[in-house]
Amino acid sequence: MANIIKTLKGTKDILPQDVNMWQFVEENAKKIFTQYGFKEIRTPIIETTELFSRGVGDTTDIVNKEMYTFEKSDRSITLRPENTAGVVRSYIENGMSRLPAPVKLWYKGPMFRYERPQAGRQRQFNQIGVEMFGIKQPTADAEVILMAVNFLKSLGLNDLDVEINSLGCPKCRAEFKEKLKSVIKPYLNDLCEDCQNRFDKNPLRLLDCKVEDCQKIYSLPEIQEIIHSDFLCEECSSHYTELKLYLDRMGVRYKENKLLVRGLDYYTRTVFEIKSNNLGSQNAVCGGGRYDGLVSQLGGEETPAIGFAMGMERLISLIPANEQPKLDGYIVSNFPTDAFILAEELRSYGLNIEFDLTNKKFTKQLEKASKCAKYAIILGEDEILKHQVSIKNLETGNQITVNRENCKENLYL
Ligand code: HAM
Repeated sequence: MANIIKTLKGTKDILPQDVNMWQFVEENAKKIFTQYGFKEIRTPIIETTELFSRGVGDTTDIVNKEMYTFEKSDRSITLRPENTAGVVRSYIENGMSRLPAPVKLWYKGPMFRYERPQAGRQRQFNQIGVEMFGIKQPTADAEVILMAVNFLKSLGLNDLDVEINSLGCPKCRAEFKEKLKSVIKPYLNDLCEDCQNRFDKNPLRLLDCKVEDCQKIYSLPEIQEIIHSDFLCEECSSHYTELKLYLDRMGVRYKENKLLVRGLDYYTRTVFEIKSNNLGSQNAVCGGGRYDGLVSQLGGEETPAIGFAMGMERLISLIPANEQPKLDGYIVSNFPTDAFILAEELRSYGLNIEFDLTNKKFTKQLEKASKCAKYAIILGEDEILKHQVSIKNLETGNQITVNRENCKENLYL
């Protein structure tokens, strides 16, 4: 026998028995995001590599280690590792800045990151996300966070933790970075390799290192003092305070987390994550924030923007599995032509119907019906002669015989 070909490491099939859960999540996203005025956008899965090195930032793990990049006709092309950069590119390229603000967009689809696969972390995974352009006021931050929470609630996920932080603007953050570096510098040789590399390039990322020895160092009082110092300039500080007031007023429960720095370079001011205690180490269901500099950095006009993305696999793993949807009816008959004709007729009324294509024994067909359908529609010799059908409710066991033309009404009960 020939070798079996398997999925690549870190990728998964979404099988038919799971697809209804994906559709449930997608339909709820569409419904809730539409209520808030967001419109769907679909951008390509491949983009120029430069979009991500300039957009996501070439000091990030995503760009440095995790991108699927290949050459084609002398162009460097990358499978999108996230979609904020792609949506910003499209916003600029399609002149969306001329539209009245805010421009509110949502998307769903696969992303690709060459990470070490583990529970909740894949190399191809799906995100559902939103981006809002053109509003600098903290009402936008609050609306986006509130919408994320309401979307999660619509899926029955009520007990998740919302964490927020402000990273300030490039100006006040630069001072903070310098202070942080100066207190960490004496311990530089004791830090892990990743932290040593990040020290100059991206010192904020030191704070979310998971290595225990590094964590011990960052817990030292003189370093904690800097981490918890109020480094925000007046404007950033009032933006953050106003955001918190809006969240309080809208009843969103949140925690402030000074260590929340996010893994992408484009963030300014507000960052947030929504986490679950039931997800192990990969506990973030949603990550997002404001990125007021990205549109201009990618060649557009200065445009404030904010958004988030959620990992759909992680989301779905939190939703309790529900029952598989059943067919409306399964036709049980040893007269395949009659069964075929009745199936087509009932399907034309919008009902979900199957019949046995192999003409198995009557009892076998009935067994199959009881597993996959709400009703068995029995078409025996007697029924055919009298132009009737017998309908068995497979939940209650009740059976009735009706004229054939009344069949469909009795399947909606
Ligand atoms: P991110 O935090 O990199 O942000 O990803 C968002 C979410 O995608 C994570 O919270 C997680 O649920 C999911 N995720 C990320 N990597 C994986 C993986 N390897 N396997 C499974 N799930 C994963 C962004 O991507 C930003 N573009 C979010 C954003 C939008 N910020 C502003 N607008």
